Amino acid sequence: MSKKRAVIIDTDPGIDDAVALAIALNHEELDVKLLTTVAGNVSVAKTTDNTLKLLSFFEKEIPVAEGSAHPLINEFEDSADIHGESGMDGYDFPKPTRQIETVHAVEAMRRTILESKEPITLVPIAALTNIALLFAMYPEVKANIEEIVLMGGTMSRGNTNTSAEFNIYVDPHAAKMVFQSGVPIVMVGTDVTSVAVLTNQETEKIKTLGKVGEMFYAMFKHYRGGSLKTGLKMHDVCAIAYLVAPQLFETQATYVEIATEGPAAGATVADLKMKYHDEKNATVCVEVDVDGFRNWVINELSKI
Ligand code: BDR
Ligand code: CA
Repeated sequence: MSKKRAVIIDTDPGIDDAVALAIALNHEELDVKLLTTVAGNVSVAKTTDNTLKLLSFFEKEIPVAEGSAHPLINEFEDSADIHGESGMDGYDFPKPTRQIETVHAVEAMRRTILESKEPITLVPIAALTNIALLFAMYPEVKANIEEIVLMGGTMSRGNTNTSAEFNIYVDPHAAKMVFQSGVPIVMVGTDVTSVAVLTNQETEKIKTLGKVGEMFYAMFKHYRGGSLKTGLKMHDVCAIAYLVAPQLFETQATYVEIATEGPAAGATVADLKMKYHDEKNATVCVEVDVDGFRNWVINELSKI
């Protein structure tokens, strides 16, 4: 079997985060070394609690460290209208049996990255606050990071303001620092994640997958990232798909600038023709094999 890829996932569960974590935690090609949490879909206290609930549900012993409670500069705005007040509305999880680490997410990431024999891939599927702080406080970690594969951004219309996708919108200043960090970035944005929706056909199939399927279907009924009728947006799941099945995506290397102020704050402006920059800082997903993605999701969830 090929060597596992060592990853740290920074997350804000979040119903699509929950599906992404389910697949990542159970994937034979991924070694999830650490989970870190951040304020995003709901408060960091809730995203941490939800992460612990998922780990207990999947009976996994992976360290969890709680991160930033608010963005670097902006006021915190959540997304409870999409994911529910708890962040994972619809399923009554038992009280988690896992505990969090005693250090902040940034410290836990520093330690995990510096102690790792193989380079780590960072997988932020939430606002980039923790990652920006990590690079500002401990730039030495960059030497042992293979790349960042993040869910966030868009090259077209935003899902939060006219131009911005939610994860970048929540903390655009952090996003700017990360995109300027010099670490290779793969941006899995809504250009692909809003297209690769799960239709009724997939969700009905998921419903039949025992305890795991029942849990997800219960949450899907409450999720407002699309609907069971029109299709569910599994944004964060696409980032995990990119890690293990990159052939499902077409990409373009470019330079992505982040707007931090004004009505376009949080926009990820891709210089696709490289008219304004000499160097590239990101590889952007531009197309996705939708049927291939749907089959991959069903296949991965069936294995759990
Ligand atoms: C992103 O925002 C969050 O609501 C989702 O979990 C996903 O990470 C989609 O815009
Ligand atoms: Ca998320």
